[in-house]
Amino acid sequence: MQYTQRPDLYDLLHPEDFMAGEREFYLALAREAGGPVLELAYGTGRVGLHLARNGIEVVGLDLSAAMLGRARQVLAEEPPEVSRRVTLVEASMAHFDLGRRFGLVYVPFRAFLHLRTQEEQRACLRRVAAHLADGGRFAGNFFQPDPLLLPRYTAVRVDGATETPDGGRLVQSHWCPRSDLVEQFKHIRMRLERFDATGRLVESGLHDLELTWIYGREWRLLLEVEGFELERLEGGFLGQSVDEGNEYVWVARRRGPSPGPGSHA
Ligand SMILES: C[S@@+](CC[C@H](N)C(=O)[O-])C[C@H]1O[C@@H](n2cnc3c(N)ncnc32)[C@H](O)[C@@H]1O
Repeated sequence: MQYTQRPDLYDLLHPEDFMAGEREFYLALAREAGGPVLELAYGTGRVGLHLARNGIEVVGLDLSAAMLGRARQVLAEEPPEVSRRVTLVEASMAHFDLGRRFGLVYVPFRAFLHLRTQEEQRACLRRVAAHLADGGRFAGNFFQPDPLLLPRYTAVRVDGATETPDGGRLVQSHWCPRSDLVEQFKHIRMRLERFDATGRLVESGLHDLELTWIYGREWRLLLEVEGFELERLEGGFLGQSVDEGNEYVWVARRRGPSPGPGSHA
């Protein structure tokens, strides 16, 4: 099963402040954009909801009906002035046309790596360019590829346990049954085991995650080819240099005027 089929478990494993400084980083950019922003791969709203709670209008686009269903439930529990600020759209970030432009388009938490081929990645960059207001920014983050984690590995790695609200635990382990070092693509299989407060196993399942990886200079080139220029490339959300951190956090701008949302060049 794809991990997106269980947004409830996703939320248990990824609390709102999962990456230090992440939500504040996107909020600061959204404030500078000064208008509605577009989040690609919105998921259940971990980042976008923080922006909406801080007065930003957010369009949240995601491919998964299940993740968006959970996002709707989460929004329903917010005060109306917050939930009103979020509009959800079910679509692929490689193929969307919202008919409007934004001062900021952002794709947090490595979601760009879900685009498997370079064609899809480039299609996404073109859709982003078409949806950016003149001078608008495109920001996001994904991990710096760790050479030790790229090849296939069948030995199970235990990632640790997360406490659940009922006093139980969710234990996560994973392995990588397939990796393509030329196409830069890997399949990760996670086992999630949920125990109740008495230590009894109540659920065990396999969850699949498929993703690519992108090197720093490859990313710079991809952006450049699609008409963007990098404004910032950092190693994390706390201002680390690329050498100090293990994430790529970037902010880019489009060169020249936006082609506009209806253009499919
Ligand atoms: C790691 S989650 C990130 C969710 C959220 N932004 C966060 O920070 O918690 C990745 C999300 O990307 C979505 N996704 C995968 N492929 C996509 C695509 N082609 N277009 C739009 N969303 C996609 C998944 O459904 C999932 O919700």
